[in-house]
Amino acid sequence: MRLSVNIDHFATLREARGASEPEPALFALLAEQAGAMGITTHLRTDRRHIKERDLEIIRKVIKTKLTLEMAATEEMKKVALKIKPDVVCLVPERPEELTTTGGLDVVANRKALAPYIKNLAKGKIRVSIFVDPELKQIQACRDLGAPQIEIHTGIYADLKPGKARDKALADVRKAAEFGDKLGIEVTAGHGLDYRNVGPIVAIPQITELSIGFFIVARTALVGITQAVREMVELLRK
Ligand code: PXP
Repeated sequence: MRLSVNIDHFATLREARGASEPEPALFALLAEQAGAMGITTHLRTDRRHIKERDLEIIRKVIKTKLTLEMAATEEMKKVALKIKPDVVCLVPERPEELTTTGGLDVVANRKALAPYIKNLAKGKIRVSIFVDPELKQIQACRDLGAPQIEIHTGIYADLKPGKARDKALADVRKAAEFGDKLGIEVTAGHGLDYRNVGPIVAIPQITELSIGFFIVARTALVGITQAVREMVELLRK
C-alpha cells in the first residue's frame, strides 16, 4: 500500500495569511523523506490553496510520483499538459464546497470525458477518476479507458462505527474488487485518519491511499511543542 500525501492544506495555511510561507514544496520533500511514495495536489479553479508556481516547483523537486487532482475543464487540461504530472485525477468541483464532496458522475458525463481522457493520455499522462463506490461508475471508467480510479472513502470515513459504516466499507470493498476485476488500478482516499484507515488498508485490491487533511492537522499538533520551544529559546537569548 503506497501513501500519497495530499499537500493542499499546507498551502491553505500560507493563503490564510497571504504570506510566502510555509512553502508547500518543502512539505512535499519532507513527506517524501518520511516515506511517502507520492505527492498529491488539487489545483482548484479559484486557486484557493495550490497555485501553478507550486506545481511547477513540486514537479521539479520531488522524486516520487506527482498526482494532480483537477476538474475536467479546458483550463486545467492546458495546465496538466504543461506541468506533466505522472497522474491526473479527475474530480468534480463545486465552487462553494470546502472539500471535494463526492465522486465524479462518469456515467452522466461520459460523452465529454471520452475526448478529454484521450487528450491527456496522448500527452503521456496517466488518468485516474475519483468515483463513488458504485459499480456503474467504475464500469463507465473502464469503458472510457481510464487505467486507474480513486474510490471515494469519505462516506465510510465520516460515519461512526456501526451498521451504516459497515455497509459503506462493504461498498468500498466491492468497488475495489470490481475495478480490479476489470483490470483497473484501484486507489482510494478522502477523510482517512489513524482511526479509520485500518479496514481500508485491509482491502487487497487497493494499491495507494491519498491522505491530506489529517496529516496536515497532525503536523501542526506534533510540531507545536518544538515550534514554541524554539521561540521561547530565542526570546531568552
Ligand atoms: N482524494 C481526493 C479526490 C480529494 O479531493 C481529497 C481532498 O483534497 C483527498 C483524496 C484527500 O482527502 P483528505 O484531505 O480528507 O485526506
